[in-house]
Amino acid sequence: MSATVPVGPATRVTTWSLQALKEAQRPIVMLTAYDFNSARLVETAGVDAVLVGDSLGMTMLGHSSTLPVTMDDMVRATAAVSRACSRVLVVADMPFMSYQAEYTEGVRNAGRLLSEGGAHAVKLEGATADTLALVSGLSGAGIPVMGHIGLTPQSVNALGGYRTQGKGPVTAAQIIADAVMLEEAGAFAVVLECVPAELAARVSDVVSIPTIGIGAGAGCDGQVQVFHDILGLGEFLPRHAARYADLSAEILNAVGSYADDVRDGSFPGDGQTTHLDAETLAEAELLFAAEFGHDHDQCDDHDHEDVAR
Ligand code: KIV
Repeated sequence: MSATVPVGPATRVTTWSLQALKEAQRPIVMLTAYDFNSARLVETAGVDAVLVGDSLGMTMLGHSSTLPVTMDDMVRATAAVSRACSRVLVVADMPFMSYQAEYTEGVRNAGRLLSEGGAHAVKLEGATADTLALVSGLSGAGIPVMGHIGLTPQSVNALGGYRTQGKGPVTAAQIIADAVMLEEAGAFAVVLECVPAELAARVSDVVSIPTIGIGAGAGCDGQVQVFHDILGLGEFLPRHAARYADLSAEILNAVGSYADDVRDGSFPGDGQTTHLDAETLAEAELLFAAEFGHDHDQCDDHDHEDVAR
């Protein structure tokens, strides 16, 4: 796999830029990021859009699904990512139960991701009648919405696991219909997760908004991947991901070397050390003795016990 040459417009990428990329048949590049430094690197490397995904529940917080992720988790991560990004489009996920229960709550929570998190758009899963109404309301309120259909991880319990969706004619037809309805409701793009490539390509032809695939083949208008997967930071590699680096191995080596150096006394070295001249240290000893009234080296065992507690 060859290194990617940083590309992308110098000016801010908008939802309109993604549409233009689809029309120019230029693949859209999207990657997740969840913190300031990774977002800075992802933007500098030249992606078009950053997704602050609720996958942070797994990659950053150690949960086994996205379900425990809260609005506060998303707002904090989105704000950190937004502070790092001056060019890319920042899309923030609406977490589980931030929009499913009540329309107004969904509008307010989407608003928080823009006003407090600094996102340019939100992403939400599914295409139920309620979700479509929300997509329409948010779009009308000036909040761009990216849809997400196919495998929708927030519905993992209803789907019976993280399985490829749309493998039969009925479910495949439903996925095409869902994409069309999301476009009609005002979504500016739609993520297609874990669907057969032929179906994703067909959806990409049918809708005029960009499709962003993950595990959906090369026929989508763009691709999104999870930062930890492509960089080898996760425990396992999903089938739809390719590893472009093995940062786990790099980190294990680096941290191991640091631990070795501390233990054998070679860290910190002179380059990491500030010195004090003997005269100043002697003066400090005198001031210390005057303040505490005795020589600290001579303190009895009782003083040591107090410090230990
Ligand atoms: O949360 C996430 O990272 C996502 C992508 C898998 C599309 O929704």
